[in-house]
Amino acid sequence: MLILGIDTSCDDTSVAILEDRRILSNIVSSQIKFHSKYGGIVPEIASRKHMEWIWNVTEEALDSAKIKLKDVDLIAVCHGPGLIGSLLVGLCFGKALSFSIKKPIVGVNHLEGHIQAVFLEEKFPDFPFLSLIVSGGHTSLYRVDDFGEYREIGRTRDDAAGEAFDKVAKMLGLGYPGGPVIDNLAQEGDPLKYSLPKPFLPGTFDFSFSGLKTAVKVLFKTLGIPEGNAPDDFKRDLAAAFQKVVVEVLIEKIKMALKAEKLDKVVITGGVAANSLLRKKAMDLKEEGFQVYLPSKALCTDNAAMIAVAGFHKFRRGIKSDLFLNARAYLPL
Ligand code: KG4
Ligand code: ZN
Repeated sequence: MLILGIDTSCDDTSVAILEDRRILSNIVSSQIKFHSKYGGIVPEIASRKHMEWIWNVTEEALDSAKIKLKDVDLIAVCHGPGLIGSLLVGLCFGKALSFSIKKPIVGVNHLEGHIQAVFLEEKFPDFPFLSLIVSGGHTSLYRVDDFGEYREIGRTRDDAAGEAFDKVAKMLGLGYPGGPVIDNLAQEGDPLKYSLPKPFLPGTFDFSFSGLKTAVKVLFKTLGIPEGNAPDDFKRDLAAAFQKVVVEVLIEKIKMALKAEKLDKVVITGGVAANSLLRKKAMDLKEEGFQVYLPSKALCTDNAAMIAVAGFHKFRRGIKSDLFLNARAYLPL
């Protein structure tokens, strides 16, 4: 079965073609250069760029998969959660394709897409497993018992981990998105130079990252360093210290949740799962007897192949949508 997946939930315009679980193409067109000067995503710019680009990105996905639009058997489109204007562009476009080629459409939750990215890899887990989604918009732990059976057991009470990376990067004057830059800088920094409080909410699988962000702000003030204009050695050491505490919290909560839920497998996904320290520390969990699944970096960050694979599994379970499908900025899994 040929599936055309669409994701326009935030700032990336992405269209993918899958043959069942096999990726034929996965085009991600990044809008970063239009947003970075504002230090974050500007929703109005994002939806306008999606409108400008969606057709070209679709043609590119079809061409590189070497198929024609009429060959597509199923349209899988992300309809939430995300920026409402951005979601609407992908959704309306997906509905128009479905109507014009007379093929079914299935709406996919963006978070379900992130979890199912692992099924695009050669090696994927059997159910049940634990999944940590850690991205710019979400930091949540799910128990996954089957396709479509997700139980949230913990979530951030304030900022998502990726959001904290982006905000700290902004204070350091590193531009947007901050995660990859902090990741790179941290490689040369001393993680023990500055001590930051570890935001560990005891007795719960929930997270909280806004206090850590405030602690970084206070450190700038205490040291008399202007925000947005920090010296290079401070940038490196702070990046390393910040990344260290975030990764420690994520790994410790994963371990706690695996033990409490009596699970032995974990899937870590979402943009922050591209972080090199997190990937390294996650692999150390293997030594404790856990199986660790980390989709490739390109499949951890937003992409339409993850939406297509989740749509494929929904369709195989007899689930499809209709042209009344609506976009939802807030859409729990
Ligand atoms: O999943 P994603 O592409 O979009 C959302 O659904 O949010 O995640 C984007 C987030 C951004 O906050 C970005 O800074 C972060 O993922 N990110 C990283 C890394 N690469 C991307 N954070 C830490 N280290 C990285 N290497
Ligand atoms: Zn995402």
